[in-house]
Amino acid sequence: MSFYITTPIYYVNAAPHLGHAYSTIGADILARHHRQRGEDVFFLTGTDEHGEPVALAAEREGVTPKELADRNAARFEALMPRINASNDFFIRTSDPRHKERVQAFMQRVHDNGYVYKGLYEGWYCPRCADFKSENEIAEGNTCPIHRIPLDREEEENWFFRLSAFQEQLEQLYATTDWVAPPSRFNEARAFITGGLQDVSLSRAKLTWGVEVPWDPEHVFYVWFDALLNYYTALSFGAGERDRTQELWPVTLQILAKDILKFHAVIWPAMLLAAGEALPQKLFIHGYLTMRDAAGEDVKMSKSLGNVLDPFEVMDKFGTDALRYYCFREVSFGQDGAVSTAGFESRYETELANDYGNLASRTIAMIARYRDGATPDAEPDAALAADFEALDEEVVDLLDRAEITQALERIWQRVRRLNRYVEEQAPWKLAKDPEQAAKLDTVLRSLAEGLRVVTVLLHAYMPETTERLMGALGQDGGFAIGTARFGEGISTHPARVTPLDPPLFPKQ
Ligand code: MSP
Repeated sequence: MSFYITTPIYYVNAAPHLGHAYSTIGADILARHHRQRGEDVFFLTGTDEHGEPVALAAEREGVTPKELADRNAARFEALMPRINASNDFFIRTSDPRHKERVQAFMQRVHDNGYVYKGLYEGWYCPRCADFKSENEIAEGNTCPIHRIPLDREEEENWFFRLSAFQEQLEQLYATTDWVAPPSRFNEARAFITGGLQDVSLSRAKLTWGVEVPWDPEHVFYVWFDALLNYYTALSFGAGERDRTQELWPVTLQILAKDILKFHAVIWPAMLLAAGEALPQKLFIHGYLTMRDAAGEDVKMSKSLGNVLDPFEVMDKFGTDALRYYCFREVSFGQDGAVSTAGFESRYETELANDYGNLASRTIAMIARYRDGATPDAEPDAALAADFEALDEEVVDLLDRAEITQALERIWQRVRRLNRYVEEQAPWKLAKDPEQAAKLDTVLRSLAEGLRVVTVLLHAYMPETTERLMGALGQDGGFAIGTARFGEGISTHPARVTPLDPPLFPKQ
């Protein structure tokens, strides 16, 4: 079974910030989870390099758009291994192979009769690189996202007959639930039922873009070129051969609500216009916000300048801690505020204490009381009952991209294991030779519980879980089928190795 997952491709007009890392980590958690399920995963991310915003930023900096794109694309590309993203390819829309495929695709749209020439006039946001419809304009003709004045623009260009897809899109929303969560599905549907207008497809003024094959004086409007990355990448980014047939349509697309309209309305219409299958699912997450001086939560964005630098956080606390924090603090799908203080507090109480300390204590007790060999005893049935069907719950939630909820279920078991230590007080059992069998059961149960949560946490915190699995002397890997309580160890007494330094050292 194949699982093809994407993130938005990021604009190269500025450096990456935590908001970009967030989408990519979310997609990475799902990609890793599906690999644990043995699926043929293809995970794509990359950069969106054409269009007005990049051309404008380059002009401001006195470099060519290509120079700016190369410089900033390199920073995004470097971010990926740093956040432990396991993307299989990094697409850059300035890649000539992408351009060729965009042209071929759009030529099909043209030949199928969905393109015409016309005059466009409207309010345009140069940062969004988008003309705004009436209900998207904030007070004083400003952009509601970027809070800058909109430009009144008029030009002759090519149009995409979006209106021709009114019925098919209404039908799509009447018969599927392809956009999640439901609030975003409703938003997209309302946009469609409000009546679709044709959208402009090319730019005459701009040169930084993909040339329109039937009219080389124009370049494609950046969104047409950008959305197609999800499709073009399969022909040259998925190995030696063209894998479009195997991997299209895409299984799951992750994005935030700022670009909902493009993905949930225009994108399916483009695919219909070319006769291609539609994505199976879009999952729309919310914004990471930061509290401003007035106590208001504001979207973290480069244009507002209120960004957390993911590199700094990772330098201090490690990549896994950042991956954990983002999805613990902010429910995937909703907006939520992040802060350095919030991060430090969860690091301390949850990562260092709940999980790190549980791991250190369990291993230290096995070392001390059983000379480092995990006892081959039957695990405690009462504890086993509390782990019953946990793997299925997690799989079920992650099937719906409920990353935060799945993490919460796993963490309930981490806490359960901590309570188990307190209830059983192994240090007391160790003092009484008659309790030796009981102590075996307790130590084995702790090691087993720890192993199960560690398999399930692997997608979230790949480095930490690898390390802990090694320290537990387990070599069974991370296949999801092994996330059953009672299915580890048994055949050979696993030898533990003390964790030094601890998984999450106190800062
Ligand atoms: N280039 C377009 C997308 C084209 S996709 C075919 C674009 N780029 S962007 O650099 O502005 O990135 C937007 C995406 O980055 C959002 O949809 C979201 O995935 C992520 N985020 C940027 N800021 C974010 C937050 N503050 N919070 C959460 N996600 C954020 O739009």
